[in-house]
Amino acid sequence: MNSPHTSAVIFEALGHQLQFSQDPNSKHLGTTVWDASMVLVKFLEKNCRKGRFCPSKLKGRRAIELGAGCGVAGFGMALLGCDVVSTDQTEVLPLLMRNVERNISRIMQTNPDSDSLGSISVAELNWGDEGHIKALEPPFDYIVGTDVVYAEHLLEPLLQTMLALSGPKTTILMGYEIRSTNVHEQMLDLWKKNFELKVVPKSKMDAKYQHPSIQLFIMSLKSPEGCGREIDENPEGRTREIDETKIEKLERGKDEDDDSRGGIDEVSSHCGEKIKEDSITSLQTEKLSEWEARRFGSMAARLLRDVKMT
Ligand SMILES: C[S@@+](CC[C@H](N)C(=O)[O-])C[C@H]1O[C@@H](n2cnc3c(N)ncnc32)[C@H](O)[C@@H]1O
Repeated sequence: MNSPHTSAVIFEALGHQLQFSQDPNSKHLGTTVWDASMVLVKFLEKNCRKGRFCPSKLKGRRAIELGAGCGVAGFGMALLGCDVVSTDQTEVLPLLMRNVERNISRIMQTNPDSDSLGSISVAELNWGDEGHIKALEPPFDYIVGTDVVYAEHLLEPLLQTMLALSGPKTTILMGYEIRSTNVHEQMLDLWKKNFELKVVPKSKMDAKYQHPSIQLFIMSLKSPEGCGREIDENPEGRTREIDETKIEKLERGKDEDDDSRGGIDEVSSHCGEKIKEDSITSLQTEKLSEWEARRFGSMAARLLRDVKMT
């Protein structure tokens, strides 16, 4: 868990300084900014100069964020030109609305000519609620969600919602931190049955905003014949097929793209992350960046929880 004790998170992304208010007094999960949302936005930042995430391709596209919380991931899509509907349960909407309004007005003040900025609105969406889904007029071009996979009972309603909001051309971008291998495996089974699924390699993520336990997925609906194969643009603009081996590596609990940081096995258990010696050295000798401080905070919280449990 991130530290919910601060009342605001300042996050530089896509040429803007964004500020997201949190509610330190709330017990609701949606009132904290979760790390996978920052990893997703920094991934977009790194890959938006050309290819499928560049503003000229996203301008005017309809995107929806599921379980938006403070709204970081949806904001990233709006900064790239999408018209975003940021959704969550009703209790979270006032904070989400405040974060959207404040960041939009700050951007308009500091950068009134920001022509790549799309729009962002807020709506209630309880996963599985057909009335809510219909009111949002699917299908969307993009569906985004970060850290929305954390409990077994939510997997099915989340899947049904993703399916109901998708059309044949929808791209789904999900990011999350693995906390339970059981939920993770069930989620992968469900998603692979329904979507073409690609795991984003660590090499495509921002060099700093990544972590071995945080995964990003890019998905699209399986074609009815089951023979549709998603293609993705590589950095040179040519197309290539999904690297299925990445998915297998993930299922085996290893991401060999990131050998230097250890495999998923090391971090997905509830026993806390392995602290590497070089991390400790940097803790002692250097001022921590905001991101490193968040990750160390998250690790400490987990260790404390485990100590309490045993
Ligand atoms: C762990 S938080 C992540 C928040 C945000 N996406 C982030 O990354 O910072 C999970 C979010 O999912 C939302 N959520 C959980 N169950 C939901 C449901 N059944 N319908 C809609 N949203 C739900 C919560 O309200 C919360 O905002």
